[in-house]
Amino acid sequence: MTKESRNTSDLKSDKVKDYSKYFDFSDAKVVSQEEGKTTYRIKGRNIQINSQPDFKEGKRRGKESIEVHYDFGIPQDMKEFGKGRFYQIVTYGCQMNEHDTETIKGMLEQMGYQSTDDRKVADIILLNTCAVRENAEDKVFGELGHLKHLKIEKPSLILGVCGCMSQEEGVVNRIMTKHPFVDLIFGTHNIHRLPVLLKDASFNREMVIEVWSKEGNIIENMPKKREGIKAWVNIMYGCDKFCTYCIVPYTRGKERSRRPEDVIAEVRDLARQGFKEIMLLGQNVNAYGKDFEDIEYRFGDLMADVSKIDIPRVRFTTSHPRDFDDHLIEVLAKKGNLMEHIHLPVQSGSNEILKRMSRKYTRELYLELVGKIKAVMPDVVLTTDIIVGFPGETDEQFEDTLALVREVGYDSAYTFIYSPREGTPAADMKDDIPAEVKKQRLYRLNDTLNEYSKASNDRLKGQTLEVLVEGESKNNEQVLAGRSRTNKLVHFEGPKELIGQFVQVRITETQTFYIKGEWIHETVSLQLGS
Ligand code: SAH
Ligand code: SF4
Ligand code: F3S
Repeated sequence: MTKESRNTSDLKSDKVKDYSKYFDFSDAKVVSQEEGKTTYRIKGRNIQINSQPDFKEGKRRGKESIEVHYDFGIPQDMKEFGKGRFYQIVTYGCQMNEHDTETIKGMLEQMGYQSTDDRKVADIILLNTCAVRENAEDKVFGELGHLKHLKIEKPSLILGVCGCMSQEEGVVNRIMTKHPFVDLIFGTHNIHRLPVLLKDASFNREMVIEVWSKEGNIIENMPKKREGIKAWVNIMYGCDKFCTYCIVPYTRGKERSRRPEDVIAEVRDLARQGFKEIMLLGQNVNAYGKDFEDIEYRFGDLMADVSKIDIPRVRFTTSHPRDFDDHLIEVLAKKGNLMEHIHLPVQSGSNEILKRMSRKYTRELYLELVGKIKAVMPDVVLTTDIIVGFPGETDEQFEDTLALVREVGYDSAYTFIYSPREGTPAADMKDDIPAEVKKQRLYRLNDTLNEYSKASNDRLKGQTLEVLVEGESKNNEQVLAGRSRTNKLVHFEGPKELIGQFVQVRITETQTFYIKGEWIHETVSLQLGS
């Protein structure tokens, strides 16, 4: 290791890397370098860079095979590190991120940390971030502004940024420039490195940056702190679809599936632990197994195997319409513990826009798929994601989306105004639709969707549904709330002991966003006794 102060251009060795091209500081000095780490002095603070995100690198999808590691463990010297210390994690974004947070909590607790809701008590605060739209990022930068004051009051506090935003070149640069009080930045591929990185950040009092751009490996057996009656299970990581508007393939790396035996073992274990529902997670679950070189085993096969496990409810998200095959439809149609709710993002109803989004299906193919699903599952509930105001979207193309929404009759949808993401192809497309027009389209779309939500809720009136009771209603603790098989939130009055149980509820009142019913006691006692 060299320990003198030099200009970044002096870095010559092949084994050490020069990261200065990733940041804008002309006066950065190298203070030390060793294999895998280069430490710079930038604006009075030492910044240790182990690796930086690189979109070009991340976009390359090599043929190298996927390694699965089963040897995760907390390093010996970190096992007691968190004793008497507290952590807080703020999570943004999708279920994938929520689930990563469970892994991070699991690791921190294995190091002895305890969770706290009181920021002032926390010794480490991590922001697990989302990069999917600009407003998600704005929230994080706002939060960093607040956290600066805490850090000034308590310099020993470790502040970390992880998740999808850390995978962006521009974000890491911005944190180094504008938020130099951050201690730790790590990405979505190297969560398992947290104990080691935490050690460097704590002992050396340097900002530590380690973000891997692409990853072929899967780390099994990381601890997870799950709570409640529902559990998330990753079945695959990454995304290779590269829809032109989307940052996820860059932030989550290439598609890689967990081995079926590992997924099945995890689901069995969750069933033994008493979880009532599992949600299988992937950015595009229908691509599951495409990357296996030694076996022919796809998502339909996995669902068939999971349906045999004694866990009451199984859900999955998200499905890409392109890879939704007939075998999967056949398996889902058998229902049992597989729920009749499918989230099937369409994004747009216009063929021209779908093409420019690179969604790789047409409106006709999508509707054909919906037709096939409804033919074998007439009671299926379909939900979707839609983007309005994609660059160049005309009024007519937007009308095509409205027409598709009516034709499918979704029960609900997540709707978004297009948000340009630096580094994605759509960000370079001409975007001349006025913001006001985009907003109006969003309102009209939501109005249309609400009509269908209301109609579908109204159809439930008088029906008796099986409801898994999740807890007290958010707005009224006298009322319980739970989910139907189709994932509708149902409210009813009943004793708190029902939380975590399946009950029968007869629906009495329905609105666009509210469903109320009566608990049917007799059936419950049968269920509880069974
Ligand atoms: N993998 C999932 C969704 C990932 S992101 C899928 O393909 O369905 C969740 C949703 O965010 C997307 O379905 C899309 O509707 C929306 N989204 C993604 N990028 C966006 C962007 N740049 N602007 C607006 N919405 C976006
Ligand atoms: Fe993004 Fe498309 Fe992949 Fe979904 S399928 S994560 S929208 S690139
Ligand atoms: Fe956001 Fe990353 Fe999920 S960008 S939506 S947290 S995969």
